[in-house]
Amino acid sequence: MTQELTSPSPAPQAPGTGRGPGWWRDAVIYQVYVRSFADSDGDGIGDLRGARERLPYLKDLGVDAVWLTPFYASPQADGGYDVADYRAVDPLFGTLQDADDLIRTAHDLGLRVIVDIVPNHTSDRHPWFQDPELARQRYLFRPGKGESGELPPNDWESVFGGPAWTRTDRGDWYLHLFAPEQPDLNWDNPEVHTEFEAIMRFWLDLGVDGFRVDVAHGMIKAPGLPDIGHGAQAQLIGAQVLPFFDQDGVHAIHRAWRRLLDGYGEALGRQVIGVAEAWAPTAERLALYVRPDELHQAFNFQFLNAPWQADALRSVIDASLAATASVGAPTTWVLSNHDVVRHTTRLGGSLARARAATLLMLALPGSAYLYQGEELGLPEVTDLPDEVRQDPAFFRGGRATGAAGPGTDTESAPDGVAAAGGQDGFRDGCRVPLPWSGELPPYGFGPGGSWLPQPADWGGLTVAAQTGDPASTLELYRAALGLRRRLPGLGDGAMSWAPAPDGVLAFTRPGLLCTVNTLGHDVELPAPGTLLLSSAPVTVAEATAQLPGDSCTWWAI
Ligand code: GLC
Repeated sequence: MTQELTSPSPAPQAPGTGRGPGWWRDAVIYQVYVRSFADSDGDGIGDLRGARERLPYLKDLGVDAVWLTPFYASPQADGGYDVADYRAVDPLFGTLQDADDLIRTAHDLGLRVIVDIVPNHTSDRHPWFQDPELARQRYLFRPGKGESGELPPNDWESVFGGPAWTRTDRGDWYLHLFAPEQPDLNWDNPEVHTEFEAIMRFWLDLGVDGFRVDVAHGMIKAPGLPDIGHGAQAQLIGAQVLPFFDQDGVHAIHRAWRRLLDGYGEALGRQVIGVAEAWAPTAERLALYVRPDELHQAFNFQFLNAPWQADALRSVIDASLAATASVGAPTTWVLSNHDVVRHTTRLGGSLARARAATLLMLALPGSAYLYQGEELGLPEVTDLPDEVRQDPAFFRGGRATGAAGPGTDTESAPDGVAAAGGQDGFRDGCRVPLPWSGELPPYGFGPGGSWLPQPADWGGLTVAAQTGDPASTLELYRAALGLRRRLPGLGDGAMSWAPAPDGVLAFTRPGLLCTVNTLGHDVELPAPGTLLLSSAPVTVAEATAQLPGDSCTWWAI
């Protein structure tokens, strides 16, 4: 029976030309988590050569660019987000020559390359921190409280758990919003600004097309470093402005970087971009990071955290598009990354929902980021033994409490460290090395093993196993990305909501209508057009379409 349709209403329009054309406005960018993508030398750790060898796979998948997570010299206290030398490649991942080769090969294939920059903190092995005099000027040292300074300077907690302060042998304390091995930089010191601009120039000279700015909301702290005065800080992160996140002062840094990027782009005749990893409390505050004179993109984590419910999805989509449209920027959608539970698992352990969510995301106006392995439908690995864990949060107990159990699709940690639904809220389960081929671990990941154990039942999920199988998730991604290229109306541009029954979303893009059935059962509709692509088999008979539960379908109109 056809269900009653609700009345149509317009969705906020994303302007097509807010700041002129730009490749990034509707690019699909694939996140390569280098240590888990492909290993060329058999040490069980992915590397730049391995990634380079697999670039043709990404070209064939149909993405526009790759984002490489940090491969810089680092003691690896936090998967390389603790950088000791921003201009050197860690021997684990290769050499500077390998980075250069990778960038050239990507460009030859028509793929752009974005690299991570980590400006909120360095490694404690960074030469600046190693030199006590320099350290005092360039990091955030404070005397302790208490009779003999034995108490931390304030009540801030590390995102990974425990106090955000560590006391040195000299008796003073330094701030680390993340692990103690990641001291926060003092962005009141102009030398810090100069150094990061120089680092950016270094990588731009090597040919990169942009930067993913790690903790882009973190560099500036409220004057006087005031207490939060709240016992449950973790719940506030991303929900309100805290004295250490999303301070208005960070925007001056982004404006300076935009000038640098634009200047470089003009000189080189190409557009180089910045994408903010910023956990802001509202879509409006997130949009501040993509004002015309700031960064180009900011990950839309509110979409990532939305539950699989039609109303919730629609309101997050509306709020996101309205907020970014108000500053002339596109929205940057994302469902998975190396910090959150893979969306197959997060959306209730349902591959059907994950496939549908991806087709929804790829039909929305703006840019989208894919995380390696989601194109294979990989689930979160939820049974890693403690002895193989590497996430520093696991050892500090940061996210274990408060993380909901597997299958929860409404609650998630908003700080980028762990959305709920994984093993226990920690991040190793989304970082297990990719399965490329074969029936047994390491499934073609490399000639050796893999730094985290891969499940024994991933033989059917490998790239080789899924290639050519029209029912596979890999072929669904290939088809969707192919259509996105061929249909000029997809990507940046207008969208409007169309009538749909409760639990179902329908919206149009130029030449296309997208339906999303978030219910667990079939819904019958008048066929809205000619079937183009669906995340699950759709039956169309006598102008009536049977939308399977948890599915998304693209129709030509
Ligand atoms: C970002 C990274 C995350 C890292 C943290 C500290 O959130 O994505 O992996 O642990 O910053 O650098």
